Amino acid sequence: MRTGFLVLAAFVASAWANPSFHTMRVHEARSDVPDGFIKKAAAPVDTMLNLRIALKQTDMAGLEQMLFAVSTPGSETYGQHLTKEEVSTTTHHVISLVGINTTFPSGCPFMTSVGATTGVTETAADFSSGGFSNFFGRPSYQASAVSSYLTALGSTNSGKFNTSGRAFPDVSAQGENVEIVVGGQTGLVAGTSCSSPIFASVISLLNDQLLTAGKSPLGFLNPFLYSSAGVAALNDITTGSNPGCNTNGFPAKTGWDPVTGLGTPNFAKLKAAVGL
Ligand SMILES: *[C@@H]1O[C@H](CO)[C@@H](O)[C@H](O)[C@H]1NC(C)=O
Ligand SMILES: *[C@@H]1O[C@H](CO)[C@@H](O)[C@H](O)[C@H]1NC(C)=O
Repeated sequence: MRTGFLVLAAFVASAWANPSFHTMRVHEARSDVPDGFIKKAAAPVDTMLNLRIALKQTDMAGLEQMLFAVSTPGSETYGQHLTKEEVSTTTHHVISLVGINTTFPSGCPFMTSVGATTGVTETAADFSSGGFSNFFGRPSYQASAVSSYLTALGSTNSGKFNTSGRAFPDVSAQGENVEIVVGGQTGLVAGTSCSSPIFASVISLLNDQLLTAGKSPLGFLNPFLYSSAGVAALNDITTGSNPGCNTNGFPAKTGWDPVTGLGTPNFAKLKAAVGL
């Protein structure tokens, strides 16, 4: 911890020494971090400081060796994750002060992003990631749904996410206790990687029936999903949340939310909504 603090101190001190720079990248690779630091002046109030604290790792050589092994084809551990023990013996925790960042491609406005629910009275699955992109602006199809959520959210997580970004997920589907068959054995799995194909299969059935009826398939889905017809054909999920990044995450609420999106599919209502 002491080492990390000193690296941070060195960064802040150099930022103060060059007040004309609002964004600086300081990469330091040094084995002897100097002791102590001197406060020269307070940072200007209107300057955004983006701080990252780098902590010295406990066993850099050991960590590099393991990372090399899992990424080298032919090695015994190729393609595996490091175990919890391997990570804890070689690293300190890495801290980022940037906030809650979103994933790609879920944050892409041209994708339909699917969150997860659980239970029969459906509630959000706590691993259902969601949030706001730092890279893509909010597309018009979701502007009104997201702005209602932000109003309802109030100051929760304020400053930790980008309120102008593309918000996700768009919709959700069951993501826990999903039965699969592997090598003749059944088992239960969980994840939004269950929810996405479940939602996609519902859309495939709709497209299949549309084509059979001589109609056009749905094409890019999102504008339809956020339309009043789309919203009315989804089950709104209003309970649960997605804790993470040392926060309680975002709470599911009435209407769109960054845990379950607009909700889960109701096939009969979706059929009617697309004119079948
Ligand atoms: C979060 O996104 C910002 C870009 O907006 C990037 O600079 C930063 O490294 C990201 N943080 C993490 C932890 O990925
Ligand atoms: C917030 O998101 C917008 C896109 O809507 C992006 O241009 C901006 O850089 C983001 N801000 C930060 C601090 O990453």
